[in-house]
Amino acid sequence: MRVVLKDPLDMHLHLRDKEMLKVVAPLSAKSFSGALIMPNLVPPVTSVEDVRSYKERILEAVGKERFEPYMTLFFKNDYDYDFLKEAKKYITAIKLYPAGITTNSEDGVLSVDSRSLGSVLEAMSELEIPLCVHGESEGFVMDREREFLSVYEDLAKNFPKLKIVMEHITTKESVSLLDKYENLYATITLHHLYITLDDVAGGLLRPHLFCKPIAKRPEDRMALRKVAFSAHPKVMFGSDSAPHPVDKKESFGCAAGVFTAPIALQALCDLFEKAGVLENLQKFVSDNAKEIYSLNPPKKEVVLVKEEYEVPNSFKNVVPMFAGEKIGWSIESVS
Ligand code: DOR
Ligand code: ZN
Repeated sequence: MRVVLKDPLDMHLHLRDKEMLKVVAPLSAKSFSGALIMPNLVPPVTSVEDVRSYKERILEAVGKERFEPYMTLFFKNDYDYDFLKEAKKYITAIKLYPAGITTNSEDGVLSVDSRSLGSVLEAMSELEIPLCVHGESEGFVMDREREFLSVYEDLAKNFPKLKIVMEHITTKESVSLLDKYENLYATITLHHLYITLDDVAGGLLRPHLFCKPIAKRPEDRMALRKVAFSAHPKVMFGSDSAPHPVDKKESFGCAAGVFTAPIALQALCDLFEKAGVLENLQKFVSDNAKEIYSLNPPKKEVVLVKEEYEVPNSFKNVVPMFAGEKIGWSIESVS
């Protein structure tokens, strides 16, 4: 059995910088046509110069592969209209983090609401710059995403022309909210389609599956699978592949993030095939994102075959999801 994926896109990707960038960027560029690059570097990407130089470093790390890094800015509440107008030439979206909610988000927003962020959101809406949001409150870890839904509603209602992407959704309630507002969209990760909290902490603790938002309940995973498998037009694949060096994962305080970029397409094929919906994978990993973000990525055809792929134990100092295990699908060729 074979599947041909055209121009796969990863609409939520952490590539980091320096040595880590050199390790992980080629792995995404090998099988994806492009990706939306997250701006949570230290310090975060907040100026046009930051965006341009980071993009250059990414392209250098990628080498000869055809791969488009779609850049983002880290949301700051003091961006003005003229700055955003200029920045729009270099970015695809702006990513908003509540302060301190996840890795390198300390410079994020203290209070997320339509009033206090009004002038920036107004300008983004007018300039048609999409807003990507890490939607979690500061509440109990299993409730954070659900508690944030009223914030999404507030933003969606008050800025009806602003495209708002609920990043890495993990709950059935987030899935339900999608159809309530025309301007709400979502990304779904590979790991949240695969795992629940049981896989992370139900037996021996598995640090390489620890991420934010934390994986939820079986019924949440079911809702995510349903909406991804049907390739709902407002839903896109965004891996949230978030590499950390092994010593930061297998450590006293484990960093949040699952590294999935090099195994994502193989594992998605396996999942979609088992659900009998392989024909919908193209929309989930590319067509929906092209439509939502009006993208025209470099042409790439990835042929996957139903042959076992043994996932390496590590890529340099980063441990991928399914390390040392077998996935039922492998990449046969990329052209
Ligand atoms: O698990 C996560 N890791 N979630 C995020 O939101 C950020 C990411 C990272 O940058 O490591
Ligand atoms: Zn992320």
